[in-house]
Amino acid sequence: DFPHPKGRRPFVNDAPTMLRGNDRRPLQRAVAVTAGLGPIFEIKLFGQKLVFVRDAALAAELCDESRFEKKLAPGVAALREVAGDGLFTAYSDEPNWQLAHDLLRPAFTRAAMQGYHSTMLQVAGELIDHLDRATEPVDVSPALTKLTLETIGRTSFSKDFGSFTKTELDPFVAAMVRSLKRGQQRGALAALPFASLLLRRGKEEYAAGRAYIDSMIDDIIDQRLAGNDAGGQDLLGLMLHSADEASGAKLDRLNIRYQILTFLVAGHETTSGALSFAMYYLATQPAVRAAAAAETDAILGDDPDAEPSFEQVAKFRYLRRVLDESLRLWPTAPGFARGPRQETVIGGKYRMTPSDWCIVMASEVHRDPKVWGDDALEFDPDRFLPAAIKARPAHTYLPFGTGERACIGRQFALHEAVLVLARLCHRYDFEADPDYELTISERLTLMPEGFRLSFTPRR
Ligand code: HEM
Repeated sequence: DFPHPKGRRPFVNDAPTMLRGNDRRPLQRAVAVTAGLGPIFEIKLFGQKLVFVRDAALAAELCDESRFEKKLAPGVAALREVAGDGLFTAYSDEPNWQLAHDLLRPAFTRAAMQGYHSTMLQVAGELIDHLDRATEPVDVSPALTKLTLETIGRTSFSKDFGSFTKTELDPFVAAMVRSLKRGQQRGALAALPFASLLLRRGKEEYAAGRAYIDSMIDDIIDQRLAGNDAGGQDLLGLMLHSADEASGAKLDRLNIRYQILTFLVAGHETTSGALSFAMYYLATQPAVRAAAAAETDAILGDDPDAEPSFEQVAKFRYLRRVLDESLRLWPTAPGFARGPRQETVIGGKYRMTPSDWCIVMASEVHRDPKVWGDDALEFDPDRFLPAAIKARPAHTYLPFGTGERACIGRQFALHEAVLVLARLCHRYDFEADPDYELTISERLTLMPEGFRLSFTPRR
C-alpha cells in the first residue's frame, strides 16, 4: 500500500480527483495532486492501480537492468491494438522485438546518420522558407511537427508528406493521434465492466482513421516493392529485405506495418516537442539566445544561408546543452514503466513481484533537488557541461529511457534537432509575445501549446 491522493472513494477510487471534468492534462494534474505524497505513490482508477516513482534514487534502482526490465503500463499495452508487436509496444520476450531490434539497428549507426544528413538539411530549408514567408507570428509546435514528420518520412520510408506545401498538418497525423488516444482510453477504462459502452462514442471516426492509416502504410510498402522510389538500405529497406544471419528470419508484412507506424509516431512527436521547448527557452532567455547565436556564427560564419556539414553538427556543444536542459525540464516522453525480473525489494522496503510494475516519472526525477540542487526548476544549460555530467550519479537523466529498451532513435533525434536549432539561431532573432505563459499540452507526448514566435533575419 502506497500513499495515495486524499478523498479515495469505493468503486471509482481516485477518479473524481484525477479525472476532473474533461481534463486534457492528466500528467500535470497528477503531479500537482500528489506533490506531498513522497517518493513513491499510487493512483487507483476504477480498480486499476498505477504506481509512480518520482524520486531519483528509486528510479536509479529501477534502471538496474540485472533486476528490472521494461513493462507495458496499461496505456501502452492498449496501443498494441494499433501498433501490435512493433518495437515500442512489443513485450521484451516476444520474438519480433529482438528480431526487429537487431535488424533495424544498422539504420541508427553514425554511418546511417551521415546518409540522412542531406535530407535533414533539405527539410530544415523548407522550414526556413516557410518562416521567411510568414507575415505573422508562427505557432512553433505545429511548424516543428511538420518538420519532424517530413524528416522521418523521407529519411526512413521515402514518404514525402508535402507538409510545407499545406496549411494544415497531414491528415495522417490527426488519424494517428485519434487512434492512439483511443488506445490509451481503452487502457484507462480496461477494468470497467461497461467500458465498451463508454467507447461506443467515436467508434466510426476511429475505424475511418485506422483504415486511412493502414492504406497509407500499405501504399508505402507497395511503392517500395514495385521499385518506385529510391530508398535502398533505409529503415524500410532493412525491414523488407534484411534477415537474421543465424536463422534467416525476416519481419513479416503485418509486423512491418506496425513498425512503420511506430517509427512515424515515435520518430516525430517527441523530437518536435523537444525542439519546441528548446525554442521556448532560447526565445525567453536573452543570454541563452545570444550564446547560441554566437556559437552558430563561430561555426557557420556570416552567410545566413550556410548549412552545417555532418561533422559540424557535433560541434554545436552549447546548442546541445540547451537541448539537453530543455529535455531535462520537459522530457517529452515523460515516463516509462519498469518492473522486476524476479521478486525483489526497492528502496529497502517496497516489495515487488514480476507481475508488478511502476512508472518512472522522468519529468519529476529530472527535478529532484537531491540531484539537481535547489535551483532544479531553473533553466541552466551548464548543467550539461562535461564535468557536471560526470559529477552526477548514473540514471538521473532519463529522457530517452533506459537499458535495452531505451530509445533506438536517440542519435537521429539529436542530430536532427541540433542541426535545426543551428540553422534557426544562425539566421533569425526570434521574439515571443511577452505575455505568453508556458502551457503544456499532453497529446501522446508533452508539447508547448499556443507558443508563437516572430522570426526576423539577424543580418
Ligand atoms: C523508445 C524518448 C526520438 C524511436 C523511447 C523511449 C523513450 C523515448 C523514453 C523508451 C520508452 C519505454 O521505455 O517505454 C524519445 C525522445 C525522443 C525520441 C525524448 C526525441 C527527443 C525518437 C526517434 C525515433 C524513436 C527520432 C525514430 C527514428 C523509438 C523506438 C522506441 C523508442 C522505436 C522503442 C525502442 C524499443 O523498445 O526497442 N523513446 N524518443 N524515438 N523510441 Fe524514442
